[in-house]
Amino acid sequence: MSIRTIITEPNKLLRQISKPVNSVGKEEKKLMDDMLETMYDANGIGLAAIQVGVPKRIIVMDISKDESKKEPRYFVNPVIKNKDPEKATYEEGCLSVPNQFAEIDRPSKCEVEYLDYNGEKKLLKADGLLATCIQHEMDHLEGILFIDYLSKLKRSMIIKKLSKKKSTAAIL
Ligand code: NI
Repeated sequence: MSIRTIITEPNKLLRQISKPVNSVGKEEKKLMDDMLETMYDANGIGLAAIQVGVPKRIIVMDISKDESKKEPRYFVNPVIKNKDPEKATYEEGCLSVPNQFAEIDRPSKCEVEYLDYNGEKKLLKADGLLATCIQHEMDHLEGILFIDYLSKLKRSMIIKKLSKKKSTAAIL
C-alpha cells in the first residue's frame, strides 16, 4: 500500500466525471488499498478515486469512530436506487477542500447498489452519517463538490482562500 497525493480545489480534475469500472481486478484492489491508506493518513472518513487523480467510479469509506476497530467500506460503480424525501443536515468537509466546512442538507436515507472489494454485487440501506457520506462521495464521481451547494458568493470566497494558500505553498 502507498499513500497517494490528494488533489485540492481549484483543480479541473475534480470536475471530471469518473468512468465505470469493468471489473474489480488487481489494479482496482491496489487502488482501493492505496485510497484507504491515503484517507486514514489524512484523517478523512471518505475518499473518491478522482481525489487521487484517478477518474474511476470507486469510493472508500470508514465512518467508525473507534481507531482500534476499523470498518473499511469499498464501493465500486455505486448507484443510488432510492432516496428518502426527508432531509438531514450535517456539517461537511472534504479532503479536497481543506479546512473548509459547511452545513449541507441531503436526503437522510438512501439505498445504494454497488460492487464490493471482491467485485460482488451488494445493496446497502444507509442512514445517518453513512447516507450523507455516500452521497458526498458519489457527488465526487460527477465532478461535484459540497461547496457547490453553497451560494455563489460563499463558494467563490472559499475558492479564493484555497487559491491563495496554493500560491503560498508553491513559493515555499
Ligand atoms: Ni469530499
